[in-house]
Amino acid sequence: MTVAVITGAASGIGAGLARHAASLGMKLVLADWDEGALKEVADNLSTEAIAVPTDVRDEAAVQALALSAYDQFGEIDLLFNNAGVLSSGLSWEIDSTTWQRSVDINIGGVVNVMRSFVPRLIAADRPARIINTSSVGGFLTSPFMAPYSATKFAIVAITEAMVGELAALDSKVQVSLLAPGPVKSAIMDEHAPAQTAKFMTVMRGMNDEHGMTPDEFAPLVFAAIERGDYWIVPQPEILDS
Ligand SMILES: NC(=O)c1ccc[n+]([C@@H]2O[C@H](COP(=O)([O-])OP(=O)(O)OC[C@H]3O[C@@H](n4cnc5c(N)ncnc54)[C@H](O)[C@@H]3O)[C@@H](O)[C@H]2O)c1
Repeated sequence: MTVAVITGAASGIGAGLARHAASLGMKLVLADWDEGALKEVADNLSTEAIAVPTDVRDEAAVQALALSAYDQFGEIDLLFNNAGVLSSGLSWEIDSTTWQRSVDINIGGVVNVMRSFVPRLIAADRPARIINTSSVGGFLTSPFMAPYSATKFAIVAITEAMVGELAALDSKVQVSLLAPGPVKSAIMDEHAPAQTAKFMTVMRGMNDEHGMTPDEFAPLVFAAIERGDYWIVPQPEILDS
């Protein structure tokens, strides 16, 4: 495996995946809408990496990302569809802008990446793997996080559909569903409304106390990819709790 594309690479899990991929000698295409943080991650990697500022909600920008990736490296082996956001609140009080933003990023962003990259990966007619990031929250609902739960359940559904579609096409491209448990990152930093402030403080505390670091988490993901796993659930014990 030589080239990986990672969305949401400026922080948390995406940045950890980038550092681990670099340590394996992979070349990298890193995308995020946080241009400054993205550049900092890319500049500190010990590999050839391009940083492409991209808002995954913007289909044209994601198409441009795919063009940049193929122009630079000619082929892609791994595609981490990782960018995501988490909002909290009472499901009936979360405003429509916040609901729409979760849908646009967590579902629309993943679909934009698939739309831009999958036809090119299939046309290349060589083995490649797409890793769509859901969450353990894509199997278990949580109160106060309805937009997150709903969009992460959707990623499980979309990814399962892709498995059948790629198999029907007899493609060499495969897909995995990544469902992280707690990993220390910025995902819970979004301002919480008054009703959920206490809940989010508890959640952040649990992540700080029990969460893996992105650099502990990334090797587990790559080990699962190496095995060819469809379900990548590095912390399965969370599903039993
Ligand atoms: N950290 C956890 O405990 C955890 C658990 C389960 C699932 N996840 C999932 O892992 C993925 C990575 O999250 P993380 O925990 O590293 O969070 P994070 O906030 O540290 O990183 C997410 C990155 O995505 C980027 N991003 C957000 N919206 C974007 C957009 N529209 N366009 C481009 N980039 C955008 C952010 O700028 C950020 O750099 C997310 O999909 C998240 O839902 C995280």
